[in-house]
Amino acid sequence: MKFFIDTANLDEIREAEALGVLDGVTTNPSLMAKEGIKGKDNVFKHYKAICDIVHGDVSAEVISTDFAGMVREGEELVMIDPKIVVKVPMIKDGVKAIRYFTDHGIKTNCTLVFSAGQAILAAKAGATYVSPFLGRIDDVGGDGLALIEQIVHIYRTHGYATEVLAASIRHVPHLIKCAELGADVATCPLSVIMGLLKHPLTDSGLEKFLADAKKM
Ligand code: G3P
Repeated sequence: MKFFIDTANLDEIREAEALGVLDGVTTNPSLMAKEGIKGKDNVFKHYKAICDIVHGDVSAEVISTDFAGMVREGEELVMIDPKIVVKVPMIKDGVKAIRYFTDHGIKTNCTLVFSAGQAILAAKAGATYVSPFLGRIDDVGGDGLALIEQIVHIYRTHGYATEVLAASIRHVPHLIKCAELGADVATCPLSVIMGLLKHPLTDSGLEKFLADAKKM
């Protein structure tokens, strides 16, 4: 399973990249706004800065909701860097735009996916990635992991090439379960990636080894 970091914060991206386990980055307008990035020029410069840090795919989201606007934006975004993947919302014109980008050799990430039906449409349109938001489903009393399992099963059964990118991951058990279920990618905050490191027996064991090393 690939690890993407779900942030537009350059320091966090650098820290995850330095760990040597990062395969890419996902952003969205909320994450960009959180970093105080304003205006098209600055937004594009920020995407470039992210691409310069990582070696993998970087999802950059369109903000148009009509087909022509999404195509125009996507074609501009991919000029920033070859690592850019155009993130497109799961709406009618979004599906059409994903088909257009697929036919023109442009990678896409279909976002805001909350059902298996939407995931099937994304795959049929040729999306490179589909992003089911499992945490947000849990937030409203649903079962986000069950959706990941269902999409993985459908994609494997029918041989769809679209990769399942589990998004809106909130904690370590979410991430581990996504790995068990066969998600191709998990995108999560830095805290979740770093959370994988933690075990109290590792800490106490190391403390003992270091104490004993002084007696060697
Ligand atoms: O980038 C999409 C997704 O991961 C958003 O997560 O935490 O805002 O539900 P969250």
